[in-house]
Amino acid sequence: MAAIGLAGMLATGCNDTPKTDSMSFDEIVASRRSVRQYDPEKKISEAEIRTLIETAIEAPPWANNQPVRYYVAIDPEKVQQVRELLGSGNMRNTAGAPVLLVTTFKKGGSGFFRGTPANELGDEWGAYDAGLSNAFFILKARERGYDTLIMGMRDSDGLRKVLNIPNDEEVTAVISVGYRVNDPNRPARKSVDDITVFF
Ligand SMILES: Cc1cc2nc3c(=O)[nH]c(=O)nc-3n(C[C@H](O)[C@H](O)[C@H](O)COP(=O)(O)O)c2cc1C
Repeated sequence: MAAIGLAGMLATGCNDTPKTDSMSFDEIVASRRSVRQYDPEKKISEAEIRTLIETAIEAPPWANNQPVRYYVAIDPEKVQQVRELLGSGNMRNTAGAPVLLVTTFKKGGSGFFRGTPANELGDEWGAYDAGLSNAFFILKARERGYDTLIMGMRDSDGLRKVLNIPNDEEVTAVISVGYRVNDPNRPARKSVDDITVFF
C-alpha cells in the first residue's frame, strides 16, 4: 500500500484497517474516516489519550498562546452524561465509544494583539486553533489504531455544567474515540482544481 501514495489509496477506497505500526502519513490520512459505530468491547486507557493530546499540543497556536483545552470523559458514567448532550443523532453515532472529549478554547487569546482584536475575525481565531489541535489529535489517534468522530452538534451549556467548563472558555467540538466495527466509505471530495486558484 505504501507505494501507491495518497491519491491511489483514496481512489481505491483504502477500506482495510491498516496496521498501526507501519502506516505512512498518507495511509493515516486515507484510512481516517468519521466513524459512527464503535466496538463496545474495546476500551482505551487514560495513558493512550494523554499520548494523543501530547500530539495535539504540538499543533501551531496563535502567538503560541495555547488556548485549547480538553475535557475527557473516560469514566463510563461520565461518558454517558456527555453522550446525552449530543442530540439523538450523535447519541446514536457514539454508541460503544469508550471516550468522549470536549474541546474548548480560552477567549481573548488567539486573534488578539496587545489586548485588541488583530483583525476582523477576532476571537474566532480560537476556533481555528482548536480545529488545528483537533486535526493533529484525530490523525495521531488513527496512527495508534483508533477511530474518531468530530461533533459540532452538542449542547454546550449542558457540557459546561457536566464538565465544570469555565465561562471564559468557548466550547467547540466533541470528539468520540474508539474502534470501528466496520469500514466506512469515503465521502466524495472536491478536487484540487475545485478549491484552488494559482497565480
Ligand atoms: C466541525 C465539524 C463538525 C462536525 N459535526 C458532526 C456532527 O455533529 N455529527 C456527525 O455525525 N458528524 C459531524 N462531523 C463529521 C463530518 O460530517 C465528516 O467529517 C464529513 O462528512 C466527512 O467525512 P469523513 O470525516 O469520513 O471524511 C463534523 C465534522 C467537523 C469538521
